[in-house]
Amino acid sequence: MKILLLGKNGQVGWELQRSLAPLGEVLALDRRSTPHCGDLSQPERLAQTVRDWGPDVIVNAAAHTAVDKAESEPDVARCLNANAPAALAQAAADIGAWLVHYSTDYVFNGMGEQPWQEGDATGPLSVYGQSKLEGEQAIAVSGCKHLIFRTSWVYAVRGGNFAKTMLRLAVERESLTVIDDQHGAPTGADLIADVTAHAIRQVGANPTPTLAGIYHLVASGETSWHGYANHVIAQARHLKPEQGLKVSDIAPVPTSAFPTPAQRPLNSRLNTRKLQQAFGLVLPPWQQGVNRMLAEIL
Ligand SMILES: NC(=O)c1ccc[n+]([C@@H]2O[C@H](COP(=O)([O-])OP(=O)(O)OC[C@H]3O[C@@H](n4cnc5c(N)ncnc54)[C@H](OP(=O)(O)O)[C@@H]3O)[C@@H](O)[C@H]2O)c1
Repeated sequence: MKILLLGKNGQVGWELQRSLAPLGEVLALDRRSTPHCGDLSQPERLAQTVRDWGPDVIVNAAAHTAVDKAESEPDVARCLNANAPAALAQAAADIGAWLVHYSTDYVFNGMGEQPWQEGDATGPLSVYGQSKLEGEQAIAVSGCKHLIFRTSWVYAVRGGNFAKTMLRLAVERESLTVIDDQHGAPTGADLIADVTAHAIRQVGANPTPTLAGIYHLVASGETSWHGYANHVIAQARHLKPEQGLKVSDIAPVPTSAFPTPAQRPLNSRLNTRKLQQAFGLVLPPWQQGVNRMLAEIL
């Protein structure tokens, strides 16, 4: 199997380099790659890469993920998150390849408390969410065989993440304030990459695209950023009591306490039943992946 991976150095892309390796020949690109182009700002050249290399599967882990910055550069966000996936999808359709793509709970309006299902009405609150929704729609209308995994609250050992920020602040300060009215499930890039590899193996073994479609892919359970912070600090104290975290008070605050250019959904819960049933997979509790990440970074 030939797999073209785009966005190889992002949180998910880095883990995909590991999880896709046993499936076959992987050509992993980033925006600076040559001679094959992996730059989402050049959709025509991306399509040419697909035609030249002829993959069986394209995995697009690249995106414009700077949610606040997208508010002031909507054309760039649309190019990277909608036009580039559209070009990839058309090229995939032309050669009969699968396209695996990632999207977000930000396609929803964040109302209510029920976990979103794949068929629920969308209603993005931000330029980023709108651009990701347009990417999903372009893939669907292209007619290519596709898997779109909507995820949320992604973290990885590599690079910065919310847990690392909380740990740094917990060393410096006695009290922290953390948002408690946004709800979701912290999801490891390693879990997303592993599920992607299992799914590709299943669709690759099946000549008919019966499994094609949108799936919600997050760890099980739910929390708030405040609950997440509390868990990180408690677990850090358990794993490494000698590090002497100074923090004694983590106060819950509403989203309005931290104004941002882009509006965040309050309800980021995603119902994953469809994915678990279709692929026969189990999504572990979010604490399991977070504890593992903490054990690696502490
Ligand atoms: N992070 C989250 O919490 C989250 C939540 C929901 C959904 N998602 C979705 O999950 C997917 C993976 O996200 P992630 O967390 O792995 O994001 P990430 O760590 O920000 O990685 C995104 C990657 O895209 C690359 N990229 C940006 N502009 C590019 C361009 N013009 N051409 C080629 N590559 C470009 C970046 O490259 P550089 O390093 O060179 O900038 C980076 O490697 C995305 O589709 C994202 O929308 C993420």
